Amino acid sequence: MPEVAKNLSRVPHPYTLSDAEDWLAVVKENPFNLSIFLNDELIGGVSLSDRRDNSYELGYWVGVDYWGQGFATEAASGLLNVAHSQIGSLVVVANVYKENVVSAQVLRKLGFTPTGEDEVFSLSRQARVPTFTYRYEA
Ligand SMILES: CC(C)(COP(=O)(O)OP(=O)(O)OC[C@H]1O[C@@H](n2cnc3c(N)ncnc32)[C@H](O)[C@@H]1OP(=O)(O)O)[C@@H](O)C(=O)NCCC(=O)NCCS
Repeated sequence: MPEVAKNLSRVPHPYTLSDAEDWLAVVKENPFNLSIFLNDELIGGVSLSDRRDNSYELGYWVGVDYWGQGFATEAASGLLNVAHSQIGSLVVVANVYKENVVSAQVLRKLGFTPTGEDEVFSLSRQARVPTFTYRYEA
């Protein structure tokens, strides 16, 4: 799904079997890396990656056919609540490409506040992409 990969920094496109195997190894290690299912069908994913500085980075995606129905917001909100209840005080950051207004709206609905600007290297675009940074504390 190029529409999804182009907005994510760590998802290459085209996506190979070996990319999927690498990702599954990461998923196994991280208790806060969850899949979103609708009636037994995989429709997305949401994760909190440990940045090893007492903060986490939030990431999420939803399959194109399911956009605009509140799934990303519901899944990310659930994961933030689970992480908060398991580890206590929680600091989460997020980096969203400047053009990704939908994702920025998701972050605002989750209670994230804007903190500035940055740039990340995108595997799918093979280029640095300007981002807005967000932060959440619970
Ligand atoms: C970003 C993404 C996860 C959103 O998933 P989703 O399930 O459609 O999101 P939700 O339905 O929970 O919320 C979308 C919000 O954006 C709003 N929105 C939709 N189109 C919009 C637009 N053009 N401009 C502004 N807001 C828009 C929706 O109305 C909704 O907000 P609302 O509930 O206040 O109306 C999905 O588009 C995706 O997977 N994109 C590719 C990967 C990606 O960008 N991941 C995030 C990287 S930071």
